[in-house]
Amino acid sequence: MPAILAIESSCDETAAAVVAGVEGRAHVISSVIASQIPVHARYGGVVPELASRSHLTAIGPVIAQALADAGTDLDGIDAVAVTAGPGLAGCLLVGLQTAKALAWSRGLPLVAVDHIAAHVHAIHLSDDDGAGSGPPGFPHVALAVSGGHTSLCEVRAPGDLRLLGQTLDDAAGECFDKVAKMMGLPYPGGVQIDLLARSGRRDGVDLPRPMRDRGVDFSFSGLKTAVRYAIEARGPEAAGDPDAQADLAASAQEAIVDVLVTKALRACEEAGWRDLVVAGGVACNSRLRAVAGERGPRAGVRIHLTPARYCTDNAAMVGGLGLALLERGEGLAGEALLALDIHTTRRPGAP
Ligand code: KG4
Ligand code: ZN
Repeated sequence: MPAILAIESSCDETAAAVVAGVEGRAHVISSVIASQIPVHARYGGVVPELASRSHLTAIGPVIAQALADAGTDLDGIDAVAVTAGPGLAGCLLVGLQTAKALAWSRGLPLVAVDHIAAHVHAIHLSDDDGAGSGPPGFPHVALAVSGGHTSLCEVRAPGDLRLLGQTLDDAAGECFDKVAKMMGLPYPGGVQIDLLARSGRRDGVDLPRPMRDRGVDFSFSGLKTAVRYAIEARGPEAAGDPDAQADLAASAQEAIVDVLVTKALRACEEAGWRDLVVAGGVACNSRLRAVAGERGPRAGVRIHLTPARYCTDNAAMVGGLGLALLERGEGLAGEALLALDIHTTRRPGAP
C-alpha cells in the first residue's frame, strides 16, 4: 500500500494530502486546504505576489496537518507528488521547491503532476460520494472547467490528455467571477451566482450563447460584455433589487452552463466516446451538474460528476494522479529530481 504525500500551490489554495494505493485505487487518507480567500477578497481577485507569500507561510503547517490527520509522519511516506504547472509561477515555485526538498532529503521519488490532468483524474479518488455513475474507463472525454481553464480533452490514460477544444479568451470560472464582480457580489463570485440564481428566472435577461452552435472551442468575453450592457441598461437602482439581481445571476449562469454542456456533448459525439467527466472548480456549480445530468443520458452519454470537495483546488487530486504516474515509472530521483523546474509536465495538446 504505497502512500504518497501530495502538494498543490498553483493558485490561491495551499493544499497537502496523503493518498494511498489500495487494491489499485487511490484512497484519500487526509486532505488539508488553506484558502487564501480572505487575503485576496479586498482586491476582488488573486494578487500573485500576495498569493506566493501566503503559500510560503502556509505550506509547512499544511503539510504537517495532512501528515497528522493521516496518523503518520514522513517515515510512513513512499513518494512525493507536486503540481508543476500550469499556474502562477511564484506560487508553483513554493510547492515545487518544498516537494523537491522533502523528496531529496528523505530519498523518496518525486512525481511532477499537471494541474488540469489532476482535476480530471479526481473522479478516480476512492472515497467519492456516489454522485454520477462512478469512475469511467479509458478513454473518455473530460470537461475541465475552472477559474483559469476551460478545456475539453480526450483522456486516454491517467495524465494522458489530448486537447479537443479550449477557451479562446476567458475561462468559464473567470466569467462567473467577473459577472459577480460587475453585480457587486463578494469575491469569489462563482458560488455567489450559483446561490443567487436559485431564486431567479433563467430567461429573465436575454443573453447570448457565444459560439454554442459550432465547434468545441469556447469564448466567454462577449457574454461578459453583454452582462455589462444589461447592467447599464437596467439602471443603478436594480443592484439593490433582489429579484433583478437573481434574474441576472440565473440568466448569466444558464448561458454559461448551456454552452459548456452543449460543447461537451458535441465533443463526446465527435470523439466517439460515451463517458464525460466534469471536473474543476466550476463543476461545483449546481446548475451545471443538473443540466449535464439531464442532457447527458438523452444524448447517450454517461455523466461522471467529480465530488464537489475535489472540484476546487486540492492536493488529493494531485496525489491520486501522482500514484498512477508513479506506477507507470514516472517518479524522479537524483539529478532529474534536482533539475525539475515548473511548467515541465506534459501539456494536453502537446505531442
Ligand atoms: O479549480 P479552481 O479551484 O481553481 C482553478 O484552477 O482555477 O476553480 C475556481 C473557480 C472560480 O472561478 C470559482 O468562482 C469557480 O471555480 N466556482 C464556481 C462555483 N464554485 C467555484 N463557479 C460557479 N458555481 C460554483 N458553485
Ligand atoms: Zn484548479
